[in-house]
Amino acid sequence: MLPAVFTRRAAVAINANALRSLSTWSAVPAGPPDPILGVTEAFKADKDPRKINLGVGAYRDDNGKPYVLPSVKKAEEILTVSKPDKEYLPITGLADFNKRAALLAYGAESAPLNEGAVAVTQSISGTGALRIGAAFLARHYPHAKVIYLPVPSWGNHTPIFRDSGFEVRGYRYFDKKTVGLDFEGLKADLRAVPEHSIVLLHACAHNPTGVDPTQAQWAEISDIVKERRLFPFFDMAYQGFASGDTTRDAFAVRHFVSQGHQIALAQSFAKNMGLYGERVGAFSLVTADPAEKARVDSQLKIVIRPMYSNPPIHGALIANTILGDKALYAQWESEVKGMADRIISMREKLYDMLTHHLKTPGEWGHIKSQIGMFSFTGLNPTQTKVLAEKAHVYMTADGRISMAGLNAGNIEYFAESVDAAVKGKL
Ligand code: LMR
Repeated sequence: MLPAVFTRRAAVAINANALRSLSTWSAVPAGPPDPILGVTEAFKADKDPRKINLGVGAYRDDNGKPYVLPSVKKAEEILTVSKPDKEYLPITGLADFNKRAALLAYGAESAPLNEGAVAVTQSISGTGALRIGAAFLARHYPHAKVIYLPVPSWGNHTPIFRDSGFEVRGYRYFDKKTVGLDFEGLKADLRAVPEHSIVLLHACAHNPTGVDPTQAQWAEISDIVKERRLFPFFDMAYQGFASGDTTRDAFAVRHFVSQGHQIALAQSFAKNMGLYGERVGAFSLVTADPAEKARVDSQLKIVIRPMYSNPPIHGALIANTILGDKALYAQWESEVKGMADRIISMREKLYDMLTHHLKTPGEWGHIKSQIGMFSFTGLNPTQTKVLAEKAHVYMTADGRISMAGLNAGNIEYFAESVDAAVKGKL
């Protein structure tokens, strides 16, 4: 016979197993990894020294290292001296930051901004801005809760709007044959959507394709949006990254506003200030007048308070210090241009290597013509999989690469790996 202590242990173990099988969460299925952030997880787990991460859109310097902008460092020095407190911000965030963020997007000439008719709230970066906008529209937009996204769009757009109760549909955007904008398809689709639908527009540096409408095409899109009484929701996560010039990159937003559209706008300072982990952004809505703005402001507070109460303070203070200091602002603008220029030089180098040195089959002109942080290479999911497994080169399954992840030290290895994948030699 077993000693009593053994039988007691066995009974405890049996009970634990029984409880486990009865767990409240036993039916929760394993979810797939995030299509973008999951790539970083796979990259981190890879121990090969040659590995390259071109998945997430995060700027790297020419040594492949994360880049803290010198203007950000300077702003932090200023803050170290001024020692701001750590009190709660108001529900809609730092008022000065909100004013300056809106000025950066809408411009000093903006009539609704100058009339005090733009409602602005600080947000938890661009994702948070989209989510606040979606929650506000879900509650107050007086028409059907249907949003049209460009096909393709940033992978997180669909879950953000779907989780906020929207029906998500698509409009044509990218033409695989020309590796450019399907402008005729886009116009035809927007003309056919039901009146009052919400349409999401990437203000500049379209993610993931790197293909933007020209200014003349934006003007046509604005006319269609007006004719069809659509509601334009702009996502501007890359102001400055498309052309290296924050004013030029704000063209679409400013043009729409000048044409009388009451836009919604999500802004992010993750990319253009390199404030990724600080989560700095803004959501704004153009309203009819200051009284309407005040009512919208009050409802934005009601949307935000149960979500996260009020936003974090540190990143907003950094952005506000840069935007509010003439010299620091000018320095920041030149640093944004520096990042954009380095990416453009990588585009030229990669194109040159694939086309002239390696003679990689295919047409690679789009690597140079696409703009912003990403290139939509045209590599298929089989090729992207083999590149990760055999060459330790990581990108999203749709063939998007973050150009910012390339540098003088890894571009040759990357080009050779792509060449081998395309030629079926990996
Ligand atoms: C990206 O598209 O890589 C970035 O916007 C980062 C993200 O959160 O997906």
